[in-house]
Amino acid sequence: MSLASRMLTMAAGLLGASVITGAATAQVNYPDKPIMMIVPAAAGGPSDTVARLVAEAMSAELGQRIVIENAGGAGGSIGAARVAKSAPDGYTLLLYHIGVATFGALYPNLPYKQDEAFDSVGLVTEVPLTLVGRKGLPPEDVSALLAWLKGKGAGATFGTAGVGAVSDLCGRLLIDATGIKPTVIPYKGTGPAMNDLVAGQIDFMCDQTTNTTNHIKSGGIKPYAATTRNRIAVLPQIPTLLESGVPGFDLSAWHAIWTPKGTPAQIREKLSGALQKALTDPKVIERFGTLGTAPVAAQMATPAALDDRFKSETARWSKLLAGAAQK
Ligand code: MLT
Repeated sequence: MSLASRMLTMAAGLLGASVITGAATAQVNYPDKPIMMIVPAAAGGPSDTVARLVAEAMSAELGQRIVIENAGGAGGSIGAARVAKSAPDGYTLLLYHIGVATFGALYPNLPYKQDEAFDSVGLVTEVPLTLVGRKGLPPEDVSALLAWLKGKGAGATFGTAGVGAVSDLCGRLLIDATGIKPTVIPYKGTGPAMNDLVAGQIDFMCDQTTNTTNHIKSGGIKPYAATTRNRIAVLPQIPTLLESGVPGFDLSAWHAIWTPKGTPAQIREKLSGALQKALTDPKVIERFGTLGTAPVAAQMATPAALDDRFKSETARWSKLLAGAAQK
């Protein structure tokens, strides 16, 4: 081999080694700058509430700020796609929920592949939902509400955070179970949708307790039912849809944190460690408790646990939503 070839080979080897050393150093020093957490729903909504609580506690653990960026629209699939296209370096996270497991079934032109776009950090919390109406809505209970909705047909308005949002999934299950046919009004999140419900601009919603509990307690909106198998501890007076005669309803919104596919396991494990610590923070536990939810157990706030949940939920919703794909 000529001297020139030998020198080129050595230079390539040194370059390769420096790249490997660089990547390894980046992982060891991670995080050495602020992290962006994309919440694919408008500020002030239930997902945003979960994200801000958890991000603050994780920041303290990581020693770097986690900056929340709200990117609402299309049920959360726009923000999810942004994360899918981001660099897998640990500096862009997605905090969202069950909706991420449904986008593949609902959006034929989704700009990423459902089971190839994200790597897992861990589960965060499971949030019950409540069926709620505007304050002046005439029906007094679920059966009267369903009769009223059937009579109103498309004249009744149902606010959601867009196709694939859990407020939308709840509506789909309710429509399938009861035959009601309301007009669905999509928002960039149920934060703005709740503003319109409180203002009496829309008739009803199915939203997470992290957004409805305080409005129910203040009398600003009318509670009809919980979507979970059991009643919600902080709202014990509200019957479940199951108790109210709507069969098979058992829905809650599991929330999780993902990274773009290809984010090193060492970085994700560091994030999972910070998440597990954040979920033991008394402020997080207390706040979640007053809003009808609770942190998941530490062993669920791990990449492996989220991998399992995401896989099973993607399969479940692709069956439930067969034929519902957006035209
Ligand atoms: C939804 O799925 O309904 C959204 O999470 C609502 C929100 O967080 O704004």
